[in-house]
Amino acid sequence: MDFPASHILSITQFERFDIERIFTVADQMEPYAHRRKMTRVLEGAILGNMFFEASTRTRVSFGCAFNLLGGEVRETTGFQSSAISKGESLYDTARVLSSYSDVIAMRHPDAGSVAEFASASRVPVINGGDGANEHPTQALLDLYTIKCELAAKCREVDGLRIAMIGDLRHGRTVHSLCKLLCLYKNVKAVLISPAELSMPEEYVEQLRAAGHEVIVSDALEANICDVDIVYSTRIQEERFSSQEEADLYRGRFRLNQAIYTEFCQPNTVIMHPLPRDSRATANELDVDLDGNPNLAIFRQADNGVLVRMALFALVLDVAHLVDKYSKDVPWHTANRVI
Ligand code: CP
Repeated sequence: MDFPASHILSITQFERFDIERIFTVADQMEPYAHRRKMTRVLEGAILGNMFFEASTRTRVSFGCAFNLLGGEVRETTGFQSSAISKGESLYDTARVLSSYSDVIAMRHPDAGSVAEFASASRVPVINGGDGANEHPTQALLDLYTIKCELAAKCREVDGLRIAMIGDLRHGRTVHSLCKLLCLYKNVKAVLISPAELSMPEEYVEQLRAAGHEVIVSDALEANICDVDIVYSTRIQEERFSSQEEADLYRGRFRLNQAIYTEFCQPNTVIMHPLPRDSRATANELDVDLDGNPNLAIFRQADNGVLVRMALFALVLDVAHLVDKYSKDVPWHTANRVI
């Protein structure tokens, strides 16, 4: 695809070559993301960071990524602080805010809303999650993480064996990840969920059409013994009609150190898009895994900055100028090992 001035709305717009381009630029961002160097390549540019649904990682890492490239960030969080709460349409909001910004990142609770907004925007729009539909930048950072974790074991993404676990019906991160894996070869995808929360058929069909082996199951232990990655997800309680309905599924697929030791291979990588639900009743991805070196969840979140920096650099067509506008940092960041 032609990155400059393009919207980033769905994984379907990418070819494998595009993914490799994004990851090459993400690698180039490493000294800037880790504060060994700084660049002012986007000095004067403004990111409109518009999050109409709760977010920690995506919102803040989009902002950090833009700041690390030298740009400024203006944020809108929640409908109550936007004129949308007074009845303003997405069209009008897009026409106005896109003249205040050079690029916009947006999260919205309704599927398709970010694409609707983008159609009225004068500047590129990046989808930070639209309802239960897609979360393309999360899938990109997930695959970047998978690539890095497998490379440490001298493996490639082709031939990947991955178990996706939890609320696969509402989990937009796994929807986008399934689409992305269709660009690779010889993948085994094990889709573990309660029947009511199973992966929508369109994504299963896409995986099969790509020639991948797909196993659909509601059993955890028997299906995590022969995979490279276990990718756990949260029950997306905000997508259920009531808390009671969401509570029916809590704790069904608990992964803790004892289960990991008994059923997983010793080097199986554990991923989760976060947030993990750490409340006592959640029983999702236990904190007793925090000392497990194969727990990649925080490396995964860190990679969000690299990948989002790469997307900004490509969409604003400055990837080739990042080093030209760079200098050493005068401060020292204490980087403690926790
Ligand atoms: N992974 C993710 O989308 O996290 P946030 O909801 O905190 O942005």
